[in-house]
Amino acid sequence: MSKKQRYTITAALPYTNGPVHIGHLAGVYIPADIYARYRKAKGDDAVFICGSDEHGVPITIRAKKEGKSPQEIVDKYHALIKKSFEDFGIAFDNYSRTSLPLHHKTASDFFRTLYEKGEFIEKESEQLYDPEAHQFLADRFVKGTCPKCGYEEAYGDQCERCGTSLSPLELINPVSALTGAKPVLRKTKHWYLPLDKHAGWLRKWILEGHRHDWKPNVLGQVKSWLDDGLRPRAVTRDLDWGVPVPVEGAEGKVLYVWFDAPIGYISSTKEWAEKTGKDWEPYWKDPNTKLIHFIGKDNIVFHTIIFPAMLHAHGGYILPDNVPANEFLNLEGDKISTSRNWAVWLHEYLEDFPGQQDVLRYVLTANAPETKDNDFTWKDFQARNNNELVGNLGNFINRVGVLTHKYYDGLVPEPASLSDSDREMLKKISESAKQIADLIEKFRFRDALAEYMNLSRAGNKYLADNEPWKKIKTDPETVRNIMYTANQIVAALGVLGQVFLPFTAEKILQMWHLPTLSWEDVEKGGELLPPGHQIDKPQLLFTKIEDDVIQRQIDKLMKARKSNETASAGNTKPIKPGISFQDFQKNDIRVATVKEAERVPKTDKLMKLSLDTGNGEVTVVSGIAQYFKPEDLIGKQVLWLANLQPRKIRGIRSQGMILMAEDADGKLVLLGPEKSVKPGSSVS
Ligand code: 2FM
Ligand code: ZN
Repeated sequence: MSKKQRYTITAALPYTNGPVHIGHLAGVYIPADIYARYRKAKGDDAVFICGSDEHGVPITIRAKKEGKSPQEIVDKYHALIKKSFEDFGIAFDNYSRTSLPLHHKTASDFFRTLYEKGEFIEKESEQLYDPEAHQFLADRFVKGTCPKCGYEEAYGDQCERCGTSLSPLELINPVSALTGAKPVLRKTKHWYLPLDKHAGWLRKWILEGHRHDWKPNVLGQVKSWLDDGLRPRAVTRDLDWGVPVPVEGAEGKVLYVWFDAPIGYISSTKEWAEKTGKDWEPYWKDPNTKLIHFIGKDNIVFHTIIFPAMLHAHGGYILPDNVPANEFLNLEGDKISTSRNWAVWLHEYLEDFPGQQDVLRYVLTANAPETKDNDFTWKDFQARNNNELVGNLGNFINRVGVLTHKYYDGLVPEPASLSDSDREMLKKISESAKQIADLIEKFRFRDALAEYMNLSRAGNKYLADNEPWKKIKTDPETVRNIMYTANQIVAALGVLGQVFLPFTAEKILQMWHLPTLSWEDVEKGGELLPPGHQIDKPQLLFTKIEDDVIQRQIDKLMKARKSNETASAGNTKPIKPGISFQDFQKNDIRVATVKEAERVPKTDKLMKLSLDTGNGEVTVVSGIAQYFKPEDLIGKQVLWLANLQPRKIRGIRSQGMILMAEDADGKLVLLGPEKSVKPGSSVS
């Protein structure tokens, strides 16, 4: 066996503000689990670390919503999430939680070390404050429009649509997520990690050192961050839930959740070491250890830039060897959303499909969002189960078991002299194992699983081509060769399957009474099961999923969609009291063409427009600067209320106003004629 390599494998610590869904599983936990199982199967010294991320604003928001304390919320979801992972065979060596004293101490010490080394900048700044809730609005306490992509539900720390990392002050039209109030600015002191100071070595380390082994989506994000220029980043918050900032003058402040969460990997490793009597330090400090972070794409910057900068600033720690981030999984064509209940929750899946964890594991791996966002559909789930798991893998294993019992009372037959096709088949076993290993090592789990299924497909074809059922009477010697070979394939599928489909593999290993075979045994080639080895009567590994079962799942989602639509329909403003037609006719609305547009200096919202009204140019000052760029407006035709009394806005005489549609979230959309018309045309 090759020399043991030490691996620290981490999977993103999930926030404990809700249960976990298929997107989490597909994006992070299944690939991480396959990889960790593979490393262990190879005999490496791998520890697989995770835990609950129990701090941060979303948890306090959830607590407020449910009328509970943050601790009650994290207790509830920690238990639920932990159980879901166990139920799906995600085989962490340790699943910890960041509310533990061990973590608080680890994170606190980490901060203090950086503080004492002078690695922080201390800065007073103006931050958003909710005058109704009497508190500062960190991160997710603020919502608004993303300045990059225009998504209106962006949070104060990140836009979930485009992945851009934000600060609350960058949001357009910010509102407090607590009270809906418009925030005001107030002074507060915080500690910042000067990321700009780290940009040089980060660029070298990642963009030069890892340009061949990190995934393109990860390198792409890193490059764009570095090219944009790194800035100092606050690592403390005004909040009462989290790890208290361990320095004087920091009362009422906690560590930013993204400062303490990745340190959670370290504290979880410490907890594991305490439980198992091991030493945690080589897993984080020995330069020969390979540290691998499995994450979703929204976590890339934290694991490739911020956490490495923290580790580097601290000193003594290794940096990640790879950060294989996945893209997102959508559900039936729509972004998975906890708040809209547009998700397949793991605990609910298990209620509807008891004992069928591997079906979901299979579908999510076969369709994993490795290089681009992917879509989960129930129809695809059904087809993959029925055609691939039942039709290919289950069918092959069952056939081999049934025929071995029928012809040889369940004993692996003694082969006679093997034919070329038998030998080729046996060779394919070890080639497949090597190929699968190679793909897993490149983090290409979809392709690795496809290769695994190819081995089973090759087994089916081998049986179909050789037709032992036709030859058993006339050519028993050949049939012994075939069934001997087929049993070797089953043994390989049992061993290799442990990384992808642990529940199924376990059943195969049990039915075939497989001795402790290692991955390397399969890679080496040669006999896996000796003649005379007894196997059990096979039980079916997979069952067909009928249309009505799938329809029920689709109906469930449609119900969620309907109730969302009803909820958002209820979001429109109430209709104002009625007016007469004569009153309406007093409005003189005209079509006008925007000739010039410029922002009004020192304002966020105001735009000065010059309109061609068909009867000369007029100036209108309009509160639309947060929604449009001047160049987007020039040349557009708009609806202009011509006879509104002129008024002075910021010293500019504004004549009339332009009409806009405003959606429930306050976003403005320009109104104009469907086809270009002469400026001055009237609207009625
Ligand atoms: O995105 C998330 O769900 C975060 N809770 C991930 C944290 S990963 C880590 F650094 F702990
Ligand atoms: Zn965005």
